[in-house]
Parts: sequence; structure tokens; C-alpha cells
Amino acid sequence: MAVVNDFFSASHALGTWRSTVVATLFCSLLYFVLGRRSRESLPPGPRGLPIVGNLLQMLKARKGGMASFGFFLRDLNRFGEMSTLRMGTKNWIMLNSDRVIKEIIVNRNKITSERPYQPIASGIVSRWKRTLLRRVPDWVEGRRAMQHLLSGTSVKTYGEWQEQESAILLGAYLDEPENWYIHHYRYTVGIAFKIVLGIKLDRPTSDLEDFRRMTREFVISIGGSAYDYFPWLNKLPSWLRFGRKYWEDMGDWHYQTLRKWWVPFKQTVDKGAAPPSWTRDYLMNQTPPFGGGEDEEAMYLALSIVSAGSDNTRMLLNAWVMSAISYPGAFLKAREAVEKVVGKDATRLPDLSDLQKITYISATIKELLRWRPPVPVVPAHLLTEDLDFEGYYFPAGTEFVISPFAVGRRDYKDAESFDPDRWMNGTETNLLDGLW
Ligand code: HEM
Ligand SMILES: *[C@@H]1O[C@H](CO)[C@@H](O)[C@H](O)[C@H]1NC(C)=O
Repeated sequence: MAVVNDFFSASHALGTWRSTVVATLFCSLLYFVLGRRSRESLPPGPRGLPIVGNLLQMLKARKGGMASFGFFLRDLNRFGEMSTLRMGTKNWIMLNSDRVIKEIIVNRNKITSERPYQPIASGIVSRWKRTLLRRVPDWVEGRRAMQHLLSGTSVKTYGEWQEQESAILLGAYLDEPENWYIHHYRYTVGIAFKIVLGIKLDRPTSDLEDFRRMTREFVISIGGSAYDYFPWLNKLPSWLRFGRKYWEDMGDWHYQTLRKWWVPFKQTVDKGAAPPSWTRDYLMNQTPPFGGGEDEEAMYLALSIVSAGSDNTRMLLNAWVMSAISYPGAFLKAREAVEKVVGKDATRLPDLSDLQKITYISATIKELLRWRPPVPVVPAHLLTEDLDFEGYYFPAGTEFVISPFAVGRRDYKDAESFDPDRWMNGTETNLLDGLW
């Protein structure tokens, strides 16, 4: 079921690898011979090759699709709660348990919230403007702005919009069942679009398809190029920097796609015809960088949220369909739980206020996030100061990678099975219980 998780579906980017391999090997050899002296002491991990370390193993697993990549990630659990992958000149510390994620990423966020330098995915493909990969100094303003979007009284209104869109989604399932996955996408983009821009999504399916393709390409570009693992490649003269054209074309197309969605919105705002929204009233009212003439920062931030907020939720809904087909027992249980509260034959539709009563639905959502995490590996967090942690010594520059697929298969019995009941312990409606 390829639609479930696009992360696995393509490594076409690998083509650009071949052309950089020769230069890479040569320069790496120098680096390797000159060596790096440090008193680092890192968790164990699989044996790798000289120079490239575990890079090729990881790429091969990723290229093989979800089954092989999932196996690779899950297997790293045998080294413990943390395992080290040597990725070219970088060390990736895979975080395989909720406990170490909380310790490293949450409790030590002052030194683990930075992103590594990613000249392709963040630079060429995103013009350094996609919030997900930005470095801290460029990212704080956007983060502050996002706090206004996702907190406060407006959150209740978002719930009402979600209920309306859910009713539309149910209608779409009935009218065109074969397009169920397109309905999912329209549903999730529709909600995110309305929350961020305040207007109803009104775009043909081909535009939606472009938007989805853009998000997918961006995700795959993360860690998808030799330039990410051998940063000195970026210092080569331009005629030696092979494969860049591919990424430049991608970045240009992403920019055009974003503009196509943004410009009509901006024109409506300029005409005074846009309804109230966070983008109109908060973002564009700011002094630069978000407001005051230049609108590119606002465009990237607003539409990055639409893209992040719609794609993960889309994939989770697709995984839910997959679970319903593979585990009909769990699906029927969910249905019974809903009918117990709203009555049989759809006397009325459930709404968000029923959620506390239909606890099996919360358990189902948690189980989906465990079973098929939409983000199987989270983009690396860069350590900005040396860190002594539980007998290990991580030098600044180490990268921490949250590994949800591994986490979800660590302390769970019969982990490959989909079983919401494992969450039914009285805390299933508490969003934070059991999930990092
Ligand atoms: C199934 C649902 C979702 C999943 C699994 C998910 C997952 C993630 C993950 C793993 C990250 C990176 C965190 C890190 O680096 O430590 C992230 C970042 C982000 N997510 Fe989500 N997400 C979901 C839903 C949403 C929604 C509904 C929105 C918005 C309405 C959203 C907006 C964002 C944004 C803006 C970022 C980037 C934050 C930054 O670094 O500035 N996500 N998400
Ligand atoms: C409830 O169950 C989940 C899943 O096994 C677990 O992660 C969580 O810690 C449990 N919560 C409590 C309070 O026992």
C-alpha cells in the first residue's frame, strides 16, 4: 500500500549520488587519514565501512521500502535505548525509547534544539525558509508566531471546523469510495488551510496533487544527498559540485507551487476581502520579516504549517484504513464504541465532546501512531555543547535522531500487530501519556 507512507516510496534522489561518489571518496580519504581526535564515547551500533560508515546500509534499507527500512530501524533496538550510526562524517545517535527522547530532546532542549547544516533540503530545496529545518536564530521568530496559532481560544473554533470537514469527508466516502485517499488529503489540507489562512480550500485535485508532491519531495530530500553527510563537499568549486541541478530545479518548482497557493490569498488580503485569520491578522501584521511588504517569510511559514499539518495526518488516516482491512476486529470494536455513545444507524454524528467517552478511539489513534508512525525517523537535532550522559560522552556536533518506528517496537508485546487495547489502561485519552 504505497500511499500509506511516502517517505519510503522513493529514493530517486540517489541518482545524484553516483556522480558525487568519486569526489567523496577521495576527499573522505584525506579526512579519514588525517583523522579526528576526540574523547567521544558513543553508544554501540552496527559495524560500518571505512569512510562512509553505516550510510550505505541505511540508504539501502530506506530504498527497499517500508518493510526493509522498518526492519533496519527496529533492529537497532538490540544495541540498547541508543545506538550509533556513522553517517559519513557525522554521528547519528538513534533514540530508541521514550525515556531517552524525554531526557535528551525534552529535558535538555537548550542544547538539543538546533538543526544540522543541511545545504540541500534546507538550503537549495527550501531557500532556508522552511521552519522544520531552520537553524535556531532563523527559527525563533516563526516559533513565537506559531505559539499564537496553536494556543488560546481559537483552538475551540478549529474543533468546530474539523467537525464540519469530517461530515463532508463521510459524504465523500459514500459518493466516491474508490477515491478514499484523495478525500483524506482534501480533508486534512482543508482543515489546515482554514486554520492557517481562514478561508475554505477551493482548489482542483491537480493542485492538491502538486502540493502533496511538493511535501513528499521535501521530506525525501532530508538526508537525501551526499552533501548532507560530507559537508566539506559544499566547499568544492561549483564545477565539482555534481548533482546540484536536480535539487535546484526541485527548489524552484516548490517555490512556484507555493506562490501559486499564496498569491491569490495575498491579493484577497490586499483587497480587504480576506476573513480573519492568523496569517492575515497576526503574521502579516508583524514588522519584517513576516509583515511589512516582503511576504516570502510569511508565505513559507504559513504554507509550511499547512503542508506539515496535512501530510502527517493524511498518512495516519491512510494507515487507519490499512488497519481496518488487516485487523477488522479492532475496527468493529471502534465502531461499537462509537455506536454505544451516539446510537446505532447514525442517529447523530459523534463530535469532539464525545471523545472522552469513546476512549477506544483515542486508543486507536495512539496505536496508529505507534504502529505506522507517519514520520518513521525525525530530522536530526544537533547537539550544541558537549554532553555527558549516562556514561557516554557526546561531543558538540553529535546529531540525535528520534526513531519512532524503533520506539514503537521496543517495549510492546507482539509489536507488529495492530491492537488498540494495549492502550486501554485509563490514561488513553491523555494525549501525553505513553507518547513522547
Ligand atoms: C499525525 C500527526 C502529526 C505527526 C506525526 C507530526 C510529526 C511531526 C514531527 C516528528 C515533527 C518534527 C519534530 C522534531 O524535529 O523534533 C513535526 C514538526 C512540525 N509539525 Fe507536526 N506532526 C503532526 C501533525 C501536525 C499538525 C496537525 C500541524 C499543524 C497544524 C503540524 C505542524 C508542524 C510544524 C509547523 C512542525 C515544524 C516545527 C518547527 O520545527 O518549527 N504537525 N511534526
Ligand atoms: C498505558 O499503556 C501505554 C501503552 O502500553 C503505556 O505506554 C502507558 O505508560 C500506560 N500508562 C499507565 C499510566 O500505565
